[in-house]
Amino acid sequence: MERTYIKDLKGYEGKEVVIKGWVDIRRDQGKLIFLDFRDMSGKVQGVILPNAKEAHEVGEKLRPEWVVEVQGKVNPRPEKNIQKDKMNGDIELEILGITILNQAETPPFEINETKAINEELRLKYRYLDLRSERMQKNIRMRDKVITFFRDYMHKNDFVEIETPMLMKGTPEGSREYVVPSRLEPGKFYALPQSPQQFKQLSMVAGFERYFQIARCMRDEDTRGDRQPEFTQLDFEMSFVTQEDVLQYTEAMFIELVKKLYSNKKIPETPFPRITYKESMEKYGNDKPDLRKDKNDPDELSFVWVIDFPMFEKKDDGEIQATHHPFCSIKPEDKEKFMKGEDIFSIRANSYDLVLNGYELSSGSIRIHDRAEQKQVFDLIGVSEEKQKLKFGHMLEAFTFGAPPHGGFAPGIDRIMMILQNEPNIREVIAFPKTGEGKDLMMDSPAEISAGQLKELGIKIDKKTE
Ligand code: AMO
Repeated sequence: MERTYIKDLKGYEGKEVVIKGWVDIRRDQGKLIFLDFRDMSGKVQGVILPNAKEAHEVGEKLRPEWVVEVQGKVNPRPEKNIQKDKMNGDIELEILGITILNQAETPPFEINETKAINEELRLKYRYLDLRSERMQKNIRMRDKVITFFRDYMHKNDFVEIETPMLMKGTPEGSREYVVPSRLEPGKFYALPQSPQQFKQLSMVAGFERYFQIARCMRDEDTRGDRQPEFTQLDFEMSFVTQEDVLQYTEAMFIELVKKLYSNKKIPETPFPRITYKESMEKYGNDKPDLRKDKNDPDELSFVWVIDFPMFEKKDDGEIQATHHPFCSIKPEDKEKFMKGEDIFSIRANSYDLVLNGYELSSGSIRIHDRAEQKQVFDLIGVSEEKQKLKFGHMLEAFTFGAPPHGGFAPGIDRIMMILQNEPNIREVIAFPKTGEGKDLMMDSPAEISAGQLKELGIKIDKKTE
């Protein structure tokens, strides 16, 4: 008999069906055995009546998480046992036969008790943790949100372009992960901190509207809203103004909430806008939390922060680009910029979208002129030689008809964390790393063999502590 998904059982009342899935809970009540089953679509309660001898024998052995095929009849529940708001709350599966497809050890924690369990244990057995209702919901909603973004982008003539994972590094202000080259020992690829340069080069290539569900890697200290690997909805548009990017993004987020989170409310549209300077003066930070009621889990308070300074001083006194060196300069500050005067007062055409106090996204209108790009590198002290070595391809590309362009990159993990009311982004990532950047399930990072090291021309200099 063909398998029926648990969510569809309601349509089979009075009929015999076969379901496949996991034992969720077993409860023995005298001569009756109650078994809850779970598959990817939901849960159902089953019962083995005393007269079903063979099923009874198997049922007695079953434990939570065993994998089974169950033959049964879909019956309406007695009136007094109906659970109205639950899937299959008004039906019950009368179990006629059970085939054990696989047994399971007793799990190290109870599935569905995720809030009370030590997180390290959850991460070590992530494949069990992911069986919980909470995690299934988070990961499935993440898929829905990503699908929404993909569709929205395609409807608006964007093309998804996969950009390289092995590259030469792009400055986003963090350390980069590096990958040794076997064919050229002593040389390294860098993993992308973002597809920034490739998306700009896609504009030079004439695509005009690029997007990507982009994996980014940054070797930085992790915390609740930061992971070494994360995902952006990265996009870039040609021949646009800052206003165009802001309006496009805003409409997209409003539509997302309307379609997938209609229980949530956005108190102010159009989203309020505030300059970086005002935000620092008024709130002491550049990601103000403007919620009216911070205890309301359904309030989504978006705010634009605009006009970021182009340059800032690092702790060691060095100058760096506040966002990244590809942001263009506000017309009012262009003269100072070209002269290299009073540089910390120079503002970029850059903008952040903040949601409930979290930086959700950053972007800017970019430089598309070689001389301007060079001036940024000069002002942040990148030597002529280094400019050629690291960014020669960008400077050159700008001499071959680069259109004006700009873009944005909302962080999908942070969006999901807020939409799902989770306390950190690990809860919305299927296989995240710990605060120390470890994958406890695979036990990575890990040492590699002496043979591999030799092939790569690498010697480990282990510092003794
Ligand atoms: P930025 O570095 O601001 O900009 O990143 C954009 C968004 O990505 C998310 N994000 C992260 N999420 C989880 N873990 C991290 N470690 C992490 N780092 C960043 C945030 C952030 O707002 N190339 C530019 C974008 C552009 O200019 O178009 C960039 O990457 O939500």
